[in-house]
Amino acid sequence: MATTAGFCFGVKRAVDLVYAECKNSKDVYTFGPIIHNEEVVNDLASKGVKVLNSIDELKSLESGTVIIRAHGVSKEVFDIIDSLGLKVVDATCPFVRKIYKIVTEESNNGRDIIIIGSDTHPEVEGIKGWCNSKVHVIENEDEASNLSLPKETKLCIVSQTTFNHTKFKEIVDIISNKTNDVIVLNTICNATEDRQKEAYELAKTSDAMIVIGGRHSSNTQKLYNICSKECKNTYYIQTVKDLDFSELKSFNNVGITAGASTPNNIIKEVYTQCQK
Ligand code: F3S
Repeated sequence: MATTAGFCFGVKRAVDLVYAECKNSKDVYTFGPIIHNEEVVNDLASKGVKVLNSIDELKSLESGTVIIRAHGVSKEVFDIIDSLGLKVVDATCPFVRKIYKIVTEESNNGRDIIIIGSDTHPEVEGIKGWCNSKVHVIENEDEASNLSLPKETKLCIVSQTTFNHTKFKEIVDIISNKTNDVIVLNTICNATEDRQKEAYELAKTSDAMIVIGGRHSSNTQKLYNICSKECKNTYYIQTVKDLDFSELKSFNNVGITAGASTPNNIIKEVYTQCQK
Protein backbone atom coordinates (compact mmCIF):
# COMPACT_ATOMS: atom_id res chain seq x y z
CA MET A 1 0.00 0.00 0.00
CA ALA A 2 1.43 3.37 -0.98
CA THR A 3 1.85 5.60 2.09
CA THR A 4 0.78 8.57 -0.04
CA ALA A 5 -2.48 6.92 -1.24
CA GLY A 6 -5.65 8.96 -0.77
CA PHE A 7 -6.40 12.40 0.64
CA CYS A 8 -3.64 14.98 0.82
CA PHE A 9 -3.56 17.23 3.88
CA GLY A 10 -5.62 20.00 2.22
CA VAL A 11 -8.36 17.71 0.89
CA LYS A 12 -8.68 15.85 4.20
CA ARG A 13 -9.00 19.13 6.06
CA ALA A 14 -11.71 20.36 3.63
CA VAL A 15 -13.76 17.15 3.80
CA ASP A 16 -13.51 17.01 7.62
CA LEU A 17 -14.74 20.61 7.82
CA VAL A 18 -17.84 19.79 5.72
CA TYR A 19 -18.73 16.73 7.84
CA ALA A 20 -18.25 18.75 11.04
CA GLU A 21 -20.35 21.63 9.70
CA CYS A 22 -23.30 19.48 8.61
CA LYS A 23 -23.51 18.05 12.13
CA ASN A 24 -23.80 21.56 13.60
CA SER A 25 -25.82 23.55 11.05
CA LYS A 26 -28.60 23.17 8.55
CA ASP A 27 -28.59 24.75 5.07
CA VAL A 28 -24.98 23.86 4.34
CA TYR A 29 -23.65 24.53 0.83
CA THR A 30 -20.30 23.91 -0.81
CA PHE A 31 -19.16 26.28 -3.55
CA GLY A 32 -18.56 23.62 -6.23
CA PRO A 33 -18.32 19.90 -5.33
CA ILE A 34 -15.99 19.57 -2.34
CA ILE A 35 -13.89 16.90 -4.14
CA HIS A 36 -14.02 14.92 -7.40
CA ASN A 37 -15.39 11.77 -5.80
CA GLU A 38 -18.99 10.67 -6.37
CA GLU A 39 -19.18 8.52 -3.20
CA VAL A 40 -18.20 11.42 -0.95
CA VAL A 41 -20.39 13.98 -2.74
CA ASN A 42 -23.40 11.59 -2.62
CA ASP A 43 -22.80 10.81 1.05
CA LEU A 44 -22.71 14.53 1.85
CA ALA A 45 -25.88 15.08 -0.24
CA SER A 46 -27.62 12.41 1.88
CA LYS A 47 -26.70 14.52 4.93
CA GLY A 48 -28.29 17.58 3.33
CA VAL A 49 -25.20 19.31 1.91
CA LYS A 50 -26.03 21.08 -1.37
CA VAL A 51 -23.61 22.11 -4.12
CA LEU A 52 -23.63 25.67 -5.53
CA ASN A 53 -22.52 25.66 -9.16
CA SER A 54 -22.31 29.37 -9.92
CA ILE A 55 -22.12 32.87 -8.49
CA ASP A 56 -25.79 33.35 -9.50
CA GLU A 57 -26.81 30.35 -7.38
CA LEU A 58 -24.77 31.81 -4.51
CA LYS A 59 -26.48 35.20 -4.89
CA SER A 60 -29.93 33.57 -4.65
CA LEU A 61 -29.28 32.34 -1.07
CA GLU A 62 -31.00 34.07 1.83
CA SER A 63 -29.44 32.10 4.68
CA GLY A 64 -27.09 29.23 5.42
CA THR A 65 -23.41 28.32 5.53
CA VAL A 66 -21.17 28.31 2.49
CA ILE A 67 -18.05 26.14 2.56
CA ILE A 68 -15.16 27.12 0.30
CA ARG A 69 -13.36 24.04 -1.06
CA ALA A 70 -9.61 23.33 -0.91
CA HIS A 71 -8.93 24.95 -4.33
CA GLY A 72 -10.14 28.28 -2.92
CA VAL A 73 -12.01 31.11 -4.67
CA SER A 74 -11.50 34.74 -5.65
CA LYS A 75 -11.87 37.57 -3.15
CA GLU A 76 -15.07 38.55 -4.98
CA VAL A 77 -16.79 35.32 -3.84
CA PHE A 78 -15.85 35.96 -0.20
CA ASP A 79 -17.17 39.53 -0.56
CA ILE A 80 -20.49 38.31 -1.99
CA ILE A 81 -20.94 35.80 0.87
CA ASP A 82 -20.17 38.58 3.31
CA SER A 83 -22.59 41.05 1.70
CA LEU A 84 -25.38 38.44 1.83
CA GLY A 85 -24.79 37.94 5.55
CA LEU A 86 -24.12 34.21 5.11
CA LYS A 87 -21.78 32.21 7.32
CA VAL A 88 -18.56 31.14 5.59
CA VAL A 89 -16.36 28.17 6.42
CA ASP A 90 -13.08 28.62 4.61
CA ALA A 91 -11.64 25.20 3.67
CA THR A 92 -9.14 26.73 1.23
CA CYS A 93 -5.92 24.74 1.58
CA PRO A 94 -3.42 26.80 3.63
CA PHE A 95 -0.85 26.33 0.83
CA VAL A 96 -3.24 28.05 -1.60
CA ARG A 97 -4.01 30.77 1.00
CA LYS A 98 -0.29 31.49 1.16
CA ILE A 99 -0.36 32.25 -2.59
CA TYR A 100 -3.26 34.71 -2.09
CA LYS A 101 -1.15 36.57 0.50
CA ILE A 102 1.86 36.71 -1.82
CA VAL A 103 -0.03 37.95 -4.90
CA THR A 104 -2.03 40.53 -2.94
CA GLU A 105 1.11 41.98 -1.33
CA GLU A 106 3.27 41.89 -4.45
CA SER A 107 0.58 43.33 -6.71
CA ASN A 108 0.05 46.12 -4.16
CA ASN A 109 3.83 46.70 -4.36
CA GLY A 110 3.45 47.44 -8.07
CA ARG A 111 4.48 44.08 -9.49
CA ASP A 112 2.66 42.35 -12.33
CA ILE A 113 1.80 38.78 -11.37
CA ILE A 114 2.63 35.72 -13.44
CA ILE A 115 0.82 32.53 -12.45
CA ILE A 116 2.36 29.41 -13.97
CA GLY A 117 -0.53 27.00 -14.37
CA SER A 118 -3.72 26.30 -16.26
CA ASP A 119 -5.91 29.37 -16.85
CA THR A 120 -9.17 27.43 -16.53
CA HIS A 121 -8.27 25.54 -13.34
CA PRO A 122 -10.42 26.67 -10.36
CA GLU A 123 -7.34 27.20 -8.20
CA VAL A 124 -5.84 29.60 -10.77
CA GLU A 125 -9.17 31.39 -11.21
CA GLY A 126 -9.17 31.91 -7.43
CA ILE A 127 -5.58 33.21 -7.32
CA LYS A 128 -6.30 35.69 -10.14
CA GLY A 129 -9.05 37.13 -7.99
CA TRP A 130 -6.56 38.16 -5.27
CA CYS A 131 -4.28 40.20 -7.58
CA ASN A 132 -4.58 43.98 -7.73
CA SER A 133 -2.35 44.47 -10.77
CA LYS A 134 -1.92 42.99 -14.24
CA VAL A 135 -1.98 39.15 -14.26
CA HIS A 136 -0.63 36.74 -16.88
CA VAL A 137 -1.29 32.99 -16.73
CA ILE A 138 1.36 30.92 -18.50
CA GLU A 139 0.97 27.17 -19.01
CA ASN A 140 3.86 26.20 -21.30
CA GLU A 141 7.14 27.33 -22.83
CA ASP A 142 5.50 28.63 -26.03
CA GLU A 143 3.25 30.95 -24.06
CA ALA A 144 6.28 32.08 -22.03
CA SER A 145 8.28 32.82 -25.18
CA ASN A 146 5.39 34.76 -26.73
CA LEU A 147 4.85 36.93 -23.65
CA SER A 148 5.85 40.47 -24.45
CA LEU A 149 6.74 42.79 -21.57
CA PRO A 150 8.44 46.19 -21.32
CA LYS A 151 11.99 45.62 -19.90
CA GLU A 152 11.22 47.82 -16.86
CA THR A 153 8.22 45.67 -15.76
CA LYS A 154 8.46 44.50 -12.15
CA LEU A 155 7.32 40.89 -11.92
CA CYS A 156 6.32 38.33 -9.30
CA ILE A 157 6.07 34.71 -10.47
CA VAL A 158 4.10 32.08 -8.54
CA SER A 159 2.84 28.62 -9.47
CA GLN A 160 -0.37 26.61 -9.33
CA THR A 161 0.22 24.16 -6.43
CA THR A 162 0.02 21.03 -8.61
CA PHE A 163 2.30 22.22 -11.44
CA ASN A 164 5.30 20.10 -12.50
CA HIS A 165 8.62 21.22 -10.93
CA THR A 166 10.76 20.80 -14.06
CA LYS A 167 8.30 22.62 -16.31
CA PHE A 168 8.05 25.43 -13.75
CA LYS A 169 11.83 25.97 -13.81
CA GLU A 170 11.93 25.94 -17.62
CA ILE A 171 9.17 28.55 -17.88
CA VAL A 172 10.76 30.72 -15.16
CA ASP A 173 14.08 30.71 -17.09
CA ILE A 174 12.35 32.01 -20.22
CA ILE A 175 10.38 34.74 -18.43
CA SER A 176 13.28 35.88 -16.22
CA ASN A 177 15.19 37.07 -19.29
CA LYS A 178 12.41 39.45 -20.27
CA THR A 179 12.74 42.00 -17.45
CA ASN A 180 15.37 43.16 -14.92
CA ASP A 181 13.28 42.85 -11.76
CA VAL A 182 11.72 39.46 -11.05
CA ILE A 183 10.74 37.77 -7.78
CA VAL A 184 10.18 34.02 -8.16
CA LEU A 185 8.25 32.13 -5.49
CA ASN A 186 7.95 28.41 -6.05
CA THR A 187 4.51 27.65 -4.58
CA ILE A 188 4.27 24.06 -5.83
CA CYS A 189 2.95 21.60 -3.23
CA ASN A 190 4.93 18.36 -3.04
CA ALA A 191 1.95 16.11 -2.26
CA THR A 192 1.17 15.31 -5.92
CA GLU A 193 4.76 14.68 -6.92
CA ASP A 194 5.42 12.45 -3.88
CA ARG A 195 2.33 10.37 -4.67
CA GLN A 196 3.36 9.93 -8.32
CA LYS A 197 6.94 8.97 -7.42
CA GLU A 198 5.78 6.39 -4.90
CA ALA A 199 3.23 4.91 -7.36
CA TYR A 200 5.98 4.60 -9.98
CA GLU A 201 8.34 2.78 -7.56
CA LEU A 202 5.57 0.48 -6.34
CA ALA A 203 4.36 -0.38 -9.85
CA LYS A 204 7.93 -1.31 -10.88
CA THR A 205 8.12 -4.00 -8.20
CA SER A 206 4.50 -5.27 -8.24
CA ASP A 207 2.97 -8.13 -10.26
CA ALA A 208 -0.32 -6.23 -10.33
CA MET A 209 -1.28 -2.71 -9.39
CA ILE A 210 -4.63 -1.29 -8.27
CA VAL A 211 -5.28 2.43 -8.71
CA ILE A 212 -8.36 3.67 -6.84
CA GLY A 213 -10.14 6.93 -7.62
CA GLY A 214 -13.04 8.74 -9.25
CA ARG A 215 -13.57 8.33 -12.98
CA HIS A 216 -13.23 12.10 -13.51
CA SER A 217 -10.31 12.64 -11.15
CA SER A 218 -7.45 13.84 -13.35
CA ASN A 219 -4.79 13.07 -10.74
CA THR A 220 -6.05 9.45 -10.52
CA GLN A 221 -5.94 9.13 -14.33
CA LYS A 222 -2.34 10.37 -14.20
CA LEU A 223 -1.50 7.76 -11.55
CA TYR A 224 -3.05 5.05 -13.71
CA ASN A 225 -0.93 6.14 -16.71
CA ILE A 226 2.26 6.08 -14.62
CA CYS A 227 1.50 2.65 -13.12
CA SER A 228 0.33 0.98 -16.34
CA LYS A 229 3.62 1.88 -18.05
CA GLU A 230 5.56 0.04 -15.32
CA CYS A 231 3.14 -2.82 -14.63
CA LYS A 232 0.99 -4.34 -17.36
CA ASN A 233 -1.58 -5.73 -14.87
CA THR A 234 -2.84 -2.36 -13.66
CA TYR A 235 -6.50 -1.97 -12.66
CA TYR A 236 -8.33 1.38 -12.37
CA ILE A 237 -11.28 1.10 -9.98
CA GLN A 238 -13.63 3.49 -8.19
CA THR A 239 -14.64 1.12 -5.38
CA VAL A 240 -14.15 -2.46 -4.26
CA LYS A 241 -17.16 -3.47 -6.40
CA ASP A 242 -15.32 -2.74 -9.66
CA LEU A 243 -12.82 -5.58 -9.41
CA ASP A 244 -13.12 -9.36 -9.51
CA PHE A 245 -10.54 -10.12 -6.81
CA SER A 246 -10.26 -13.78 -7.88
CA GLU A 247 -8.29 -12.41 -10.87
CA LEU A 248 -5.54 -11.38 -8.45
CA LYS A 249 -5.00 -14.85 -6.98
CA SER A 250 -2.25 -15.70 -9.46
CA PHE A 251 -0.10 -12.72 -8.43
CA ASN A 252 2.46 -12.81 -5.62
CA ASN A 253 2.39 -9.15 -4.80
CA VAL A 254 -0.17 -6.47 -5.52
CA GLY A 255 0.46 -2.76 -5.08
CA ILE A 256 -2.27 -0.26 -4.18
CA THR A 257 -2.36 3.48 -4.64
CA ALA A 258 -5.18 6.04 -4.80
CA GLY A 259 -5.89 9.56 -6.03
CA ALA A 260 -6.04 12.63 -3.80
CA SER A 261 -9.83 12.51 -3.62
CA THR A 262 -10.23 8.84 -2.63
CA PRO A 263 -11.51 8.38 0.93
CA ASN A 264 -9.67 6.09 3.35
CA ASN A 265 -12.58 3.72 3.90
CA ILE A 266 -12.67 2.85 0.16
CA ILE A 267 -8.89 2.25 0.14
CA LYS A 268 -9.13 0.05 3.26
CA GLU A 269 -11.94 -2.06 1.75
CA VAL A 270 -9.77 -2.79 -1.29
CA TYR A 271 -6.74 -3.57 0.89
CA THR A 272 -8.78 -5.98 3.06
CA GLN A 273 -10.27 -7.69 0.00
CA CYS A 274 -6.77 -8.24 -1.45
CA GLN A 275 -5.67 -10.04 1.70
CA LYS A 276 -8.57 -12.53 1.65
FE1 F3S B 1 -3.21 21.56 -0.54
FE2 F3S B 1 -1.23 20.36 -1.74
FE3 F3S B 1 -3.48 19.08 -1.36
S1 F3S B 1 -1.91 22.44 -2.06
S2 F3S B 1 -5.04 20.65 -1.41
S3 F3S B 1 -2.07 19.82 0.25
S4 F3S B 1 -2.21 18.95 -3.18
